[in-house]
Parts: sequence; C-alpha cells; structure tokens
Amino acid sequence: MIHARLTGSGSYLPEKVLTNHDLEAMVDTSHEWIMARTGIAERRIAAENEFTCDLAERASREALTAAGIGPADIDLVVVATTTADQVFPSTACLLQERLGISGSPAFDVQAVCAGFIFAMDIANRFIRTGGARRALVVGAETFSRIIDWTDRGTCILFGDGGGAVVLEADETPGILSTHLHSDGRYKDLLCVPTGVSRNYEAVQSGSAFTTMAGSEVFRWAVTAMSDLVAETLAANDMTKDDVDWLIPHQANVRIINAVGRRAGFPSDKVIVTVDHHGNTSAASVPLALDESIRAGKIRTGDTVLMEGFGGGFTWGSVLLKL
Ligand code: UT7
Repeated sequence: MIHARLTGSGSYLPEKVLTNHDLEAMVDTSHEWIMARTGIAERRIAAENEFTCDLAERASREALTAAGIGPADIDLVVVATTTADQVFPSTACLLQERLGISGSPAFDVQAVCAGFIFAMDIANRFIRTGGARRALVVGAETFSRIIDWTDRGTCILFGDGGGAVVLEADETPGILSTHLHSDGRYKDLLCVPTGVSRNYEAVQSGSAFTTMAGSEVFRWAVTAMSDLVAETLAANDMTKDDVDWLIPHQANVRIINAVGRRAGFPSDKVIVTVDHHGNTSAASVPLALDESIRAGKIRTGDTVLMEGFGGGFTWGSVLLKL
C-alpha cells in the first residue's frame, strides 16, 4: 500500500512587521484590546512589489531543501490560495515555472483558510492512487490586499505569509486520514462579496475587501474544529492521548484555546503561532507546522492533527504521522 509521507517543510514571512501599536494609528483600537480579544501582537505585510507567488516560492525552496530533493523531482504542485497573483494562470503554474518544473500537473485550490487542508487531501489522493510520487503542497496568501484597512473588525486579524510541505510516496504512513467539509449556506458570514464575474469594478478600483460577522464566525470555528477532532480520532480508532500535537487554524488565540480545551488537549500540546503572524489564511497551518518542526518541538515519529476553518464555510483536518 502506498502512503503519503511528509519529508520536508518550509515557510516564509514578509519582512515588514505591522504591530498593534501601528494599528492604533490607523483605526480606533488598542494593543490591549487586540491582545485580549485575539492574542495577536503583530502580523507581516508583503512589500508593494511582493506577491503571493514570491511567498510561495520562498517557502517551497525551503521545503525542497528540507526534503533533500530538487524541483525536478516534484511531479505535482498544489497551491492553496485566495489571493492569486493573477486571475489566470494559477499561482501553482507560476510557481512551477519559477522552480523550473514543467509537464506535471499544477493547480490552485480555493478553500480560503481551510485551503491547505484541502490541498493536502488532494495531494494525498494523488499519491495513494499512484498519480504522483512527490508532491509540493503550498499555502500562500497576501491577504493584506483584500483587507479594508479602515475596518477595525477585520484589519487587526490578518497578515501575509507562505508555508509549504513535500509529500512523498512511501510504504509507511504518512497521512493517516483526511476529513473535509463545506457548507455554502454560510457564504455571507465571511467573504469578499465581489469578484471577476460579479462587480468586477470593485476589484479594479481596489475595494474588494473581506467582510466578516466576527462573533458568529468565532462560534462556528470553535464548534467545527472541536467536532473535527472527535471525527478524526474516531475514524482512526484513537484517543486524544495518541496525538502528540494539535495545530488548529491560526486565526485567534481564543479560538485555538477553546478548541484545545473542548477537545481535552493540554495547552502544551496545542501549537500557537498566530501571535506573531496573525491569520494568514491558507498559510496559517503550514507556517505553524514548519515553525514547530524547525524549533525542534514537532519531531519525526510524532502524530500531528492539523485543522483548517474558513469562508464558505469550509473546514477540514489532516492526521499525520511524521
Ligand atoms: O479564518 C477564520 C476567520 N476569522 C476568524 O476566525 C475570526 C473570528 N472572530 C474573531 O476573532 C472575533 O470575533 C473578533 C476578534 C473579530 C472580535 O472579537 P469579539 O470578542 O467577538 O468582539 P465583538 O465583535 O463582539 O465586539 C465587541 C466590541 C464591539 O463594541 P460594542 O458594540 O460592544 O460597543 C466592537 O465594536 O468590540 C468592538 N471592537 C473593537 N474595539 C477595539 C471590534 N473591533 C475592535 C477593535 N478594537 N479592533
């Protein structure tokens, strides 16, 4: 039986730091309020001439180096993003060209903050069915470009970043299971209500911004990600004690803590990195994973449960043995 095994990870954060004190000068807020309600101290903002593919490329090169392979070894590229460089070609095709790979499939996945989890599920299926042997799976976003910087309800939360992993075919797992869900009935609670086909003028005039019903999204995120833990453990006939690390979507420390508490995980087994990069949407989970691996916290042999939750709503989990 073929499994998909994670053999390398990488990440990248843009240089520019935007602190809560910087935000105090932009909207009616305070460092204390943001810390108390979100746990976010700072986030990164891409430079004017820096785009999602640039972030994806930096993270990908790191992941390839960590895996000890070159771009030519990759036979599948999946990029999760909501903030593609261009309407088309996909950011995955742009990334493929940057890395000097050609011929094998490359495409984007759009599931907002759950995008990386969806991309992992797809790459896992490719590998398990023999459609690919070495996949590059990326979550990268320049979410700052779709934020209204005069809206204090959203602008304090989001940031830019990229994360990537290499998955390789192996006889031992690897990815143990994946679980995906979507429910379009909640499309209006978290969205950018304009796009290419609808009200493109807003995109052209640079006013296609994220809107969010914060407290409703908050409640949904906690419930969905807590339920996902139970679903994932049950599917693998495991208990929480079989899992070494929980990586919930990095949106808000209060959401992360609530999920950890409900699922019965002690706080020292729950990964938190949102404090220094904010909600980077599809990049949040691979960023948190890579940082924890590089810090020596998450190690080979560990079992890791990763979860995403985003606009749509979309939500999902990946259970992985490193
Ligand atoms: O990837 C998934 C995407 N999104 C999320 O996961 C985010 C989910 N939601 C949240 O993180 C939280 O709902 C927020 C951080 C956005 C807001 O926190 P909250 O505890 O739910 O606050 P609230 O929306 O209930 O607002 C409480 C008060 C309001 O004032 P009044 O009506 O009580 O007078 C807001 O106007 O806080 C006010 N407020 C702020 N005050 C200072 C809202 N934003 C700010 C702000 N600074 N930035």
